[in-house]
Amino acid sequence: MKFDLIVLGGGPAGYNASEKAAHAGLSVLCIEKNSLGGVCLNEGCIPTKTLLYSAKLYDGVAHGDKYGVTAENLTLDHKKVVARKNKVVKLLVGGVKSTLKAKGVTVIMGEGKIMGKNDEGFIVKVGEEEHIGAKLLIAAGSVAAVPPIPGLKEGLAAGYVVTNREILSLDEKPEKLVVIGGGVIGLEMASYFNSIGTEVNIVEMLDHIGGANDAELTSLLQKNYERKGMKFILGAKVTEVKENEVVYELNGEIKSLVADKILLSIGRRAASQELGLENIGVEMNRGAVVTDEKMRTNVENVYAAGDINGKSMLAHTAYREGEVAVNNILGKDDTMNYNAVPSVIYTNPELASVGETEATAKEKGIDYELVKLPMRYSGRYLAENEGGDGVFKLLVDKKSKVVLGVQALSNYASEFIVTAATFVEKKMTVEDVKTVIFPHPTVGEIIREAIFQCEE
Ligand code: NAI
Repeated sequence: MKFDLIVLGGGPAGYNASEKAAHAGLSVLCIEKNSLGGVCLNEGCIPTKTLLYSAKLYDGVAHGDKYGVTAENLTLDHKKVVARKNKVVKLLVGGVKSTLKAKGVTVIMGEGKIMGKNDEGFIVKVGEEEHIGAKLLIAAGSVAAVPPIPGLKEGLAAGYVVTNREILSLDEKPEKLVVIGGGVIGLEMASYFNSIGTEVNIVEMLDHIGGANDAELTSLLQKNYERKGMKFILGAKVTEVKENEVVYELNGEIKSLVADKILLSIGRRAASQELGLENIGVEMNRGAVVTDEKMRTNVENVYAAGDINGKSMLAHTAYREGEVAVNNILGKDDTMNYNAVPSVIYTNPELASVGETEATAKEKGIDYELVKLPMRYSGRYLAENEGGDGVFKLLVDKKSKVVLGVQALSNYASEFIVTAATFVEKKMTVEDVKTVIFPHPTVGEIIREAIFQCEE
């Protein structure tokens, strides 16, 4: 069949773009090989948050005595938590399916491959069937990166080593878990298993956890988890995996850890193989599809959005990139801005960030003013975080007074960071923000507090 647009991939970039394009009147085919909703809905954002919510409830009661809450015989049924996670995923995947249907998107469950181009458009094959798309959107996502560490592939095949996918559906709670990579996935899963009583060791190559996040906040997050019994082995290079043993080198010494399960979370790579991109000459850079700020590839009428372009592997970036692609397909000028993409690590407390950090501002030679406050300046934070040591940072441009960035280690940080993202995206100044009324009492009021502490 012939379509105005063929979308390869039904994850956040693909399904959202398909909906928007169909809503605007285009005939759209969306091809998905696994499950609609992609990694985010099936084995990423949503399933982890259902698990983490159970852990948060359990933790809250288990450590509730400081709030006057005590309970006896408190339990967490890991199997039940996983069953609920499956239910939530099913519901949301069903939601995506029915929305696509309601918008008139044709969905084919199968593996799509680009075969070439003719006068009518691009030829995409699914099984034996061929379809033609006048325009193409590549939104095939990413897969867990597997580095060439001896024994890792065998460990994955045998099930000792798991990725973000399998760890979400373990039948049993592991007694011991070793996490390779202290980035977002590693920290969120470590947080869940630490809460439910698993002994967790994180082995991280760098001298800090949390990647490019503000170093002061990630170090504080680490301390929070160390108090909860989690262990961090930083600056450690994993050299081998021998069944359920992780061998690593630390300061020239070879050491090892034994675990029931080993989580591999050292990053993801664009799922660009097998798509037939070479058949139409799409330009690639280290496995990722090269796109411009309008989500165009080097091939006319071919766009790419989401993890496949390797720019910012986040579902919310993918949504927006998909929309930018569709707007440009529809002839409406739209541009992707990566400066105001918020990022969140959903640990407890959460670590949220948007815009410049001190490190990036210094690197760019920006003359900035920093307002750093303990989260305790927020009454609501104090009410809900007995003994909490959260920190908030606001960066503004010294001269123009434009808000450059915000970082927070706090409960609800994932919710209030969008306020800061608005200020960064809209380039609002300290004076602009002063007139914004924040509901009281909220943890996010800390932004207002910091704004009023900026130099006149
Ligand atoms: P990541 O890039 O966040 O972290 C990987 C970590 O592994 C880094 O700290 C790196 O230094 C370390 N590492 C790399 N090679 C190593 C080795 N051989 N030994 C030890 N450590 C090593 O990647 P992660 O956590 O796998 O997440 C993948 C993607 O998924 C990210 O792009 C992330 O943005 C996205 N994601 C986002 C979430 C969110 O927004 N809350 C949640 C989960 C994933």
